[in-house]
Amino acid sequence: MTSPASAPRPRQSLRRHRAARPVLLALSLFLVGAVYAAVAPATTSSADGAADAQLIAQGKDLFAVNCASCHGLNAEGLAQQGAPALTNVGAAAVDFQVRTGRMPMGNPYAQAVGKQNTFTDDEINALATYVGSLGSGPKVPGEDQYNPDGLSAEDVARGGDLFRTNCSACHNFKGAGGALPNGFVAPSIEKTDPAQIWEAMRTGPGQMPVFAAGAIPDEDVKAVIAYVQQVNATPSAGLTLGGIGPVAEGFWAWVVGIGSLVLAAVWIATRGARA
Ligand code: HEC
Ligand code: HEC
Repeated sequence: MTSPASAPRPRQSLRRHRAARPVLLALSLFLVGAVYAAVAPATTSSADGAADAQLIAQGKDLFAVNCASCHGLNAEGLAQQGAPALTNVGAAAVDFQVRTGRMPMGNPYAQAVGKQNTFTDDEINALATYVGSLGSGPKVPGEDQYNPDGLSAEDVARGGDLFRTNCSACHNFKGAGGALPNGFVAPSIEKTDPAQIWEAMRTGPGQMPVFAAGAIPDEDVKAVIAYVQQVNATPSAGLTLGGIGPVAEGFWAWVVGIGSLVLAAVWIATRGARA
């Protein structure tokens, strides 16, 4: 009587064991996963390193497709294309050249001209990070380095002095631009973004000299930017009608002046006829 009653018990406990093992395995895997997930965000530096490595890899791919034909696969420069090595130009030079649409260049034998940039912010960031990782050179600036908000009137005046001393010979006194010898052109900088003015000064594109931080520190770059913004925001004296020039302005004076005389004559004539 005892054996048939006790016989199912080991079978049942065996059945329980069979189900418990996979459950226990799943549980412990889940636990390991949960612990890993909890610990992983704490190790941010290695996660950042991985993100950087990924950005650099993405930049290298973009570079191979868009830039290597002139600058070489490892940005070593190709003499036959007249394209310089980019190993020590810094991320700021890439940010400037691509954002202003100068690079990728169409014709490497002419001056690089600004045109519509066709890369996204992420792609520019990847390209700049990749080139920046190859050597030295200025980094892409932070807003605290170029944003001129909050500068005083004296700062703007100092910026004007710096601009007249260092820039106006090529770019004109208010940054409208001008012609240089040998067919080169210093472009207008009246509408250039502050970040790209900073980058142009630090990287010296084309015929433009480099203005290093030792010569003109960031505080002075901000003053120069503040001056360029202010001199181009100041309205000229009197009513300019949008500054379309003396011929057009004289034309409107003529239309409005003669027009009102004609209207007055018509009004007098109709009243006179009635009287
Ligand atoms: C058709 C050839 C050509 C292509 C394509 C090209 N470049 Fe250039 N690049 C040049 C030449 C030539 C110069 C030097 C002339 C100049 O700076 O005006 C130059 C200059 C530069 C400079 C300035 C270097 C310095 O000393 O400050 C940077 C940065 C640059 N290129 C980045 C790029 C990047 C990034 C790409 C791809 C998105 C690219 N270029 C594609 C020909 C090319
Ligand atoms: C020797 C002449 C020269 C001087 C001095 C000079 N530049 Fe330039 N600048 C140039 C030329 C040339 C370019 C166009 C470069 C190219 O070919 O890509 C340029 C380009 C620029 C650009 C890019 C404009 C854009 O939107 O594409 C900025 C911004 C700029 N200069 C600011 C300055 C400032 C600020 C100073 C003074 C601190 C200065 N430059 C001094 C010749 C000069």
